[in-house]
Amino acid sequence: MKDIDKALTVDVRNGLPDELLGLLRKFPRDQWANDARLHGLAEGWLQRHNLFRELSVLIGGMTTDLREGRTSPTTFLPLFQRRMGLLLGELDTHHRVEDDYYFPSFAAAAPKLQKGFDILDNDHGVIHGAIYSLGTASRELIAALSGEVSGRDGDALRVAERLAGEIEGFDRTLLRHLQDEEALIIPLILERTRDDPNFR
Ligand SMILES: [Fe+2]
Ligand SMILES: [Fe+2]
Repeated sequence: MKDIDKALTVDVRNGLPDELLGLLRKFPRDQWANDARLHGLAEGWLQRHNLFRELSVLIGGMTTDLREGRTSPTTFLPLFQRRMGLLLGELDTHHRVEDDYYFPSFAAAAPKLQKGFDILDNDHGVIHGAIYSLGTASRELIAALSGEVSGRDGDALRVAERLAGEIEGFDRTLLRHLQDEEALIIPLILERTRDDPNFR
């Protein structure tokens, strides 16, 4: 995990520093969908990120519903296990591929953006810690609810409250990371694809 200024860490900053956003100014976000070069790598990247955004919102919503009595533990449990497992597992795999392959290869292609990749690398470290803690809280909730479902005493409400708070924080961190990563990488892919259609 790269060391960066505290002000640039994912839970503090409000976006990437201006000097890293030159390409975004050239390829603004609202034009991406109209750009033929979006197809392939960049589009797949955005789809993956949107899946994470959707899952995170769905999980937050269903956990609130459980806390506020709008859904039963029996309905909640299987869906929660599936969605949370998918979010945490896929996110972990996605970050590994970025860390091991895409970030080094993009940074080599655009050394001026190295600082941006260091920031994103640091984000991954923070998110990795949050994945671990969310996984632990999820297992506690599943255990507490399973106790309730089978009629034993459980402290599901207390655990659900804690988990809902964690998910909210996780959601904020994740959204910041996804947005900044897209702002750095999608314009770079669009630009390089223009020069070299085989750029990967
Ligand atoms: Fe990432
Ligand atoms: Fe990503």
